[in-house]
Amino acid sequence: MQTSFPPFPVHRPRRLRAREAIRRLVSENSLSASDLIWPVFVHENEGMPIPVSSMPGVSRLSIGQVVDAAQQAAELGIPAIALFPSVDSSLKTSGCEEAWNPENLANRAARAVRLAVPAIEVMLDVALDPYNSDGHDGLLRNGEILNDETLDCLERQALCHAEAGATILGPSDMMDGRIARIRSALEDHGHDGVVILSYASKFASAFYGPFRDAVGSMGTLKGNKSTYQIDPGNSDEAVRMAMRDIQEGADAVMVKPGMPYLDICRRISDLGAAPTFAYQVSGEYAMIRHAADKGCLDLESVVLESLLAFKRAGCVGILSYFAPFAAGLLNRG
Ligand code: PBG
Repeated sequence: MQTSFPPFPVHRPRRLRAREAIRRLVSENSLSASDLIWPVFVHENEGMPIPVSSMPGVSRLSIGQVVDAAQQAAELGIPAIALFPSVDSSLKTSGCEEAWNPENLANRAARAVRLAVPAIEVMLDVALDPYNSDGHDGLLRNGEILNDETLDCLERQALCHAEAGATILGPSDMMDGRIARIRSALEDHGHDGVVILSYASKFASAFYGPFRDAVGSMGTLKGNKSTYQIDPGNSDEAVRMAMRDIQEGADAVMVKPGMPYLDICRRISDLGAAPTFAYQVSGEYAMIRHAADKGCLDLESVVLESLLAFKRAGCVGILSYFAPFAAGLLNRG
């Protein structure tokens, strides 16, 4: 980048900011509905949607309501929906067997959406936490997360999600070696077209609090996830995790959380090795929504600015609970 400019007044930067049209002409990044993935919570309850108390404006939906949401997303031009099951606690075990039940909630929801709205991509997480009575993403024994035993479970879960029609799998468990295992299982079982969007650079973050509330893993989680998720102070390690997952067969990688980790987004997208996504997580949503509800921030402007920041940081797409709201604003122009 050129670092010396002619001095003022020859160089007068506001010439390029003076009118709306000239600003549009020199703008470097833009946001559209096509950049968004909408995370949606699904539960068995067929009644009215049940609000997530820590996330105003977000509710848990029945499968039928999720199909409507997918239809709405498609109409808004949102290319993908990510489904997160809130599983009844009676189905959670320490062996997590429900994770690979072909008829589990996530699979039934994915099948219903694929059937009704074939134009939209359906993403499912691969991780054991929705099904784990211990609340962790991997199997827990004697206070330890068992990496290698968990891989067998993740492989089975990934295959049953692919069978159910998930077009994107998002391994969010942070076990070592999972991407290679899942990729080879998919290849061996005729699912070579399934995209792996790896939660590669996932930090042990306190910003996931409202999500754990939404899927009901808050009360069950024993301890924290620091033995498998990344230390929030580590940057090189986050880059290594992305490179590793790409080498193991991930088609795209994700940084999570988003806004506090924009530096990581930039470093990973600069590798040029795979499309980079960010997840604007539940705690980020909650911060913005609560502040706006209190009249401290203008919701529309802050949402669009926060999402555009990910594009500036090099991301091709963003998972955000604001997806339908933002797409509505963007489509309005
Ligand atoms: C769990 C998972 C988490 C999120 C997505 N998948 C939480 C966690 O790791 O505890 C968080 C998403 C959010 O906070 O919005 N595998």
